[in-house]
Amino acid sequence: MKNIRIRGGRPLDGTVHIQGSKNAALPMMAAAVLHRGTTVLRGCPKITDVFFMEKILEKMGAKTSWKGSSLYLDCSSLENTDIPDQYACRMRCSVILLGALLGRFGRGAIAPPGGCVIGDRPVDLHLDLLKTMGTHIEKEQGSLKAYTPSLRGSVFRFGKQSVGATEHGMIAAVLAEGTTCLENCAREPEISWLAEFLNNMGASVTGAGTKRIQIRGVKALHDSVFEVPPDRIVAGTYICAAAATRGKIRIENPPLTELSAFLGVYSKMGGQYDSVGGKLIADGSRAWGPVTRLETDVYPGFPTDLQSPVMAVLSLARGKSHIRENIFEDRFRVAEDLVRMGAHIRINGRDAYIDGAQRLRGCRVRAQELRGGAALILAGLAAEGETTVEGLGFVERGYEHIQEDICSLGGEVVVEGSLPVNSNEEDTVKR
Ligand code: EPZ
Repeated sequence: MKNIRIRGGRPLDGTVHIQGSKNAALPMMAAAVLHRGTTVLRGCPKITDVFFMEKILEKMGAKTSWKGSSLYLDCSSLENTDIPDQYACRMRCSVILLGALLGRFGRGAIAPPGGCVIGDRPVDLHLDLLKTMGTHIEKEQGSLKAYTPSLRGSVFRFGKQSVGATEHGMIAAVLAEGTTCLENCAREPEISWLAEFLNNMGASVTGAGTKRIQIRGVKALHDSVFEVPPDRIVAGTYICAAAATRGKIRIENPPLTELSAFLGVYSKMGGQYDSVGGKLIADGSRAWGPVTRLETDVYPGFPTDLQSPVMAVLSLARGKSHIRENIFEDRFRVAEDLVRMGAHIRINGRDAYIDGAQRLRGCRVRAQELRGGAALILAGLAAEGETTVEGLGFVERGYEHIQEDICSLGGEVVVEGSLPVNSNEEDTVKR
């Protein structure tokens, strides 16, 4: 078991550079399969989920390599269209590889991605979209086998806004016959970044960032190089660390335009921030205010991925807060460990009621998933005494160097133990 030991109670004070975005890099890696050539992702985060996706691509015949933080994906000799179970089943977003395989080869197979600890995570929208584009999908020996004589451009309206399903549609439509029009699309920044990435490869995507995206099918793509944008959720997590410790941090490369809803809540808590010369200075010394009602929502609403980190900060607010989680049905798991540290949190379905505690006390806690694990680290930084967060492997799925980052912000953290081979210390998916 890999753990992180934290000595808390000290305000953070320092500068941090934000890693490349996990949720931008992963769909870009899947989209690279469309091209019978080389795609380079500069500033790609070296996190477990990226390594999982890299392994999947290698098993399918791609050649991958790193030069510094640039990931080289040569998919020219990729021929295997069966997405390997052992990694795919541990990473839901691998389902969008199907769209890339169908676009390039007209076929693909994947073990149906199951749920995970934050919710059931269905893929019905993904599969309905592919069927509309002319794909036949059968369930055989626990695998989803997809086949199409040729993907055809279609009009498809998503029953609900889904980031992954929107990305899947964009990728599947790139090499399809004719034009595809996707309606009721998700508008997360990662969708716009994916469109920019695809167009940089030679695709023709318009409308990303709005609810209506059009993709005009093209015959082929070309080699390309693309810079992965900074991770807005990691940036928000570190601003929460400043708030939790009443400290002050400076972010060198903040994705400012993507953090409006979060910064609005941070200001409500009494957090202050200033943007100077493209840097962001976040002063959390007065961020003790409660938030009477915070609702997670699709972009540009408050991001569900920052709900747990904010819960850790509100655990120390001077007053009562209420969080409503509208996106995932089971994203309050971290509350039980925050309560063990002295937080006063009551969960009722999708509602969390938090009565700010005077202080948190360090103790041994266990991460159960990525963002909850990050929230426990924030709580440990604010708590008195020492906190050990078990299950650092969950956090390393999305945070490239959280120990080094916290140390550069003046925090006292030490990583101990290691991930045993075939560790199940990630969000293994229940089948
Ligand atoms: C992406 O997941 C992100 N992951 C998640 O980040 C993020 O929390 C989520 O979007 C919402 O912003 C990646 O980008 C790799 P959805 P995704 O499809 O695409 C339901 C993190 O911590 N739904 O937008 O899986 C679904 O159950 C991760 O970095 C269907 O009903 O999210 C959920 O309730 C966690 N049918 C809602 O839509 C479908 O076919 C939103 O899910 C697909 C989704």
